[in-house]
Amino acid sequence: MKVVSVVGARPQFVKLAAVADAFRGTGHEHRIVHTGQHYDGAMSDALFDGLGIPAPDVHLGIGSGGHGAQTGAMLAALEDVFLGGARPDWVLVYGDTNSTLAAALSAVKLHIPVAHLEAGLRSFNRVMPEEHNRVLTDHAADLLLAPTELAAANLANEGLAARTAVVGDVMADIVLRTRDAVADRPLEPLEAGLREGEYLVATVHRAENTDDPARLAAVVDALAALPLPVLLPVHPRLRDRAAAHGIALDRGALRPTGPLPYAATVRAVLGSRGAVTDSGGLQKEVFLLGRPCTTLRAETEWPETLAHGWNVLCPDPAELGKVAVRERPAPVVGHPYGDGHAANAVVRTLEARA
Ligand code: UD1
Repeated sequence: MKVVSVVGARPQFVKLAAVADAFRGTGHEHRIVHTGQHYDGAMSDALFDGLGIPAPDVHLGIGSGGHGAQTGAMLAALEDVFLGGARPDWVLVYGDTNSTLAAALSAVKLHIPVAHLEAGLRSFNRVMPEEHNRVLTDHAADLLLAPTELAAANLANEGLAARTAVVGDVMADIVLRTRDAVADRPLEPLEAGLREGEYLVATVHRAENTDDPARLAAVVDALAALPLPVLLPVHPRLRDRAAAHGIALDRGALRPTGPLPYAATVRAVLGSRGAVTDSGGLQKEVFLLGRPCTTLRAETEWPETLAHGWNVLCPDPAELGKVAVRERPAPVVGHPYGDGHAANAVVRTLEARA
């Protein structure tokens, strides 16, 4: 079986790490195409190196741009890649970024079977670019690899049950593996000055929190006013928007740093009192690592994390001070995100449906 994985943005590299590992030693040909959506060393190379992902077979170097220009450039370039070599049995696309949609569209128009990993997630917020990307990709794809039963139910509601298989969550594979590897490590030097259990980790990068200067200022003000130090790994979008609007990130409780390698992120969360984020992936990682999470949004694609108040939605930054620092709730029974072997289930499902 010939499978081409198309990735471009940081959360996709984490999912790819699990999938590439599961393909190792299977005899299948697994090729990796990187669109170049994320190109900074800390956003891309550091993830490939840190997670032991094989170097991409093809790097398109598309980079940043408006949604149309970025997605369109990827669509055209991917068509050349898919037509250039032996025809794949599957094009595998991941998550909800512009790279996901471009790869799905490009492959489907060439009649190459498309599998969507992390299918069926919904925020039901039609303003989010990620929601456009995931809905359109699910309806274009031939095989929908759902991480949870709830995601499968969302797909069934849209008439897509026949194309759906629940495989578990590949991000859980990686976070659980990484947790076991870093648990005994000391906090990294850049986190010096932070004491175990007495700081928060925060990330902000969504368009809905960063593009409107008033909203961004309110979010940053609320984080800076928290009663514990806040380790803030700064995403390039936050860095650029904050600089453009004169919003300082090095004040009050904030301890800004560049984007962290994956293992350092996991270690930082394990050492923290909890996290504040608008990232989809980090909400779930914090949940799986057993720390309380506060989400700076009105909805989540991962409603399982809300159980017992492990994750609390906080769309109004003015409310953040009341909820961000809280005790750990009662443990959740069961494993809504699978048993840490989802990537093997992905490979088996692709084999069965090739
Ligand atoms: C993208 C995804 C989002 C995902 C996120 C993870 C889309 C529409 N959004 O958002 O779903 O959660 O990745 O990080 O696909 N930039 C750099 N260096 C980089 C990458 C980006 O400087 O390596 C800057 C550029 O100024 C760019 C901005 O960040 O304009 C935004 O990057 P982009 O890839 O458009 O979207 P993200 O906000 O990263």
